[in-house]
Amino acid sequence: MEKISIKDLCVNPIELIKHCMLLTAGNEAIGYNVMTVSWGNLGMLWDKPVAIIYVRPSRYTKTFLDKQDYFTLSALPADYKKEVAYCGTVSGMRQNKFAATGLTPVCEGNTVHVAEAELVLKCRKLYAQPIEKKCFFDTDLYDESYAHGDVHVMYVGEIVEVLKK
Ligand SMILES: Cc1cc2nc3c(=O)[nH]c(=O)nc-3n(C[C@H](O)[C@H](O)[C@H](O)COP(=O)(O)O)c2cc1C
Repeated sequence: MEKISIKDLCVNPIELIKHCMLLTAGNEAIGYNVMTVSWGNLGMLWDKPVAIIYVRPSRYTKTFLDKQDYFTLSALPADYKKEVAYCGTVSGMRQNKFAATGLTPVCEGNTVHVAEAELVLKCRKLYAQPIEKKCFFDTDLYDESYAHGDVHVMYVGEIVEVLKK
C-alpha cells in the first residue's frame, strides 16, 4: 500500500462506510480486535480531517478502542463480503477473527490494519461521547435503535494517515 495525502482521497464517504468497512483497535503489545462498522462519517472538525465511528459498549473491540490512542478503518473490496459479515456477527471475545477469516493483520506502531484493504484510514482519537436521548429532536430514532440499551459511543478520530492500494 502507498501512503497518500488526505488531499488526494477521492471517495464517496457514504458508500465507503456502508460497504465492507472494518474497524481495528489495539496494537501488537496489548492485543487487538477487528469488527465490521457501517455507521460513520468523514469530514472536517476542529480544523482537522476526521473519521467518526459509533460503537456499542457490548463490542469487544471497544475495550481496545478505550485503551489506546488510535483506531484504524480498513475498506475491503466487495469480494470480501463473507469475511466482513463474519467480523460483524462473531465476537472476538470468543474467536480470533483474523485466524477464522484468513484476513491478515498488519501491526505498525500503535495501529493494526487489514492487509487485504483497498484503503486504510489511521485515526488518532480526539473525542468520545455516548449518544444521549435528551439530545434527539426525533426521539423515535432513539427508541428504534436503543430499546435494549447498549447505546453507541461516538468516537471522533483525526485522520493522520491514508494508505491506498
Ligand atoms: C454490516 C454491519 C455493520 C455493523 N456496524 C456496526 C457499527 O457501526 N457499530 C457497532 O457498534 N456495531 C456494528 N456492527 C456489529 C458488530 O460488527 C458486531 O457486533 C461484531 O460482532 C462485534 O465484534 P467484537 O465483539 O469482536 O468487537 C455491524 C455489523 C454488521 C454486520
